[in-house]
Amino acid sequence: MKNEYIPYPALIESIQNESFDTKTFKVVFENKRLAASFDYKPGQFAQLSLLGIGEAPISITSSPCNQGYIEFTIRAVGKLTRAMHQLKPGDRIYVRGPYGNSFPLDEVRGKDLYFIAGGIGLPPLRSVINSVFDRRQEFGRIKILYGAKTPVELCFKQELKTWHRIPDAEVLLTVDMPDEGWKENVGVVTTLWNKTDMASSDGVAYVCGPLIMIRFVIIELTKSGFKDENIYVTLERYMKCGIGKCGHCNIGAKFVCIDGPVFSYSQLKELPEKETAMAI
Ligand SMILES: Cc1cc2nc3c(=O)[nH]c(=O)nc-3n(C[C@H](O)[C@H](O)[C@H](O)COP(=O)(O)OP(=O)(O)OC[C@H]3O[C@@H](n4cnc5c(N)ncnc54)[C@H](O)[C@@H]3O)c2cc1C
Ligand code: FES
Repeated sequence: MKNEYIPYPALIESIQNESFDTKTFKVVFENKRLAASFDYKPGQFAQLSLLGIGEAPISITSSPCNQGYIEFTIRAVGKLTRAMHQLKPGDRIYVRGPYGNSFPLDEVRGKDLYFIAGGIGLPPLRSVINSVFDRRQEFGRIKILYGAKTPVELCFKQELKTWHRIPDAEVLLTVDMPDEGWKENVGVVTTLWNKTDMASSDGVAYVCGPLIMIRFVIIELTKSGFKDENIYVTLERYMKCGIGKCGHCNIGAKFVCIDGPVFSYSQLKELPEKETAMAI
């Protein structure tokens, strides 16, 4: 019987610097049979670990359409993530998962899709964005609104340009503190509402970022006509097991590791207010 707690070794194939504190790791499982069976959906996460150091939940940022490897974008904030940033290509990490639920994709065929991210919130959305672009003809108009504190903190800078060139797709960027070369918007992500038509009664929104951003984005989406059940957010929680056993990640009666991390706004409204973005 499979032991859910045993992680599998994977080798780092390459590392991309995203900003001064964020890197994207491309990893491959050492066991090829396992690589083929690591079947994930956009929005899911894995538990990454380094022996003797620790373990943390990290979203899978690659698209499931990319066979043979998985990618994680990691901001160095604590024990595990700082140790990850010291690693080099060829080094070994440990991975278990995939865990959690996922963003709706088949269910939203034909609809206009709106992705709204702040800072390190883009990596989980990148998985679903690239899945959508891999099946471009199945979806309507695509808008990606992305904000960071400063230009250097924007992740996936090249990919943002590629997405913007895709027909009927629009990428709008904003930063709180511009540098000399910055030509895009300045302000929090909701100020992008003045730069594009966000009115939609049938569109689907995917939101990821700091709780304060999630709260204000939901207010704007609601004003723009989005239905509660068409707004999806990802929540973060301190986790241990990742599989609904330890109780570390609960919000009310829900476990973020198995009932989430993706919740619709309708579901969010049912959770205890003080523990979600709604209380800020
Ligand atoms: C579903 C999910 C997906 C995620 N995806 C990503 C991702 O794609 N990329 C990414 O960079 N991060 C992601 N995170 C966040 C990441 O898991 C955390 O930042 C994790 O704590 C990092 O582990 P660490 O050992 O490096 O940091 P830690 O050593 O755990 O410290 C991180 C920070 O949290 C504080 N802290 C630690 N434990 C507690 C506690 N019990 N209560 C309050 N504060 C505490 C520390 O003081 C420090 O400031 C995700 C989290 C979840 C739940
Ligand atoms: S992390 Fe253990 S129950 Fe969710």
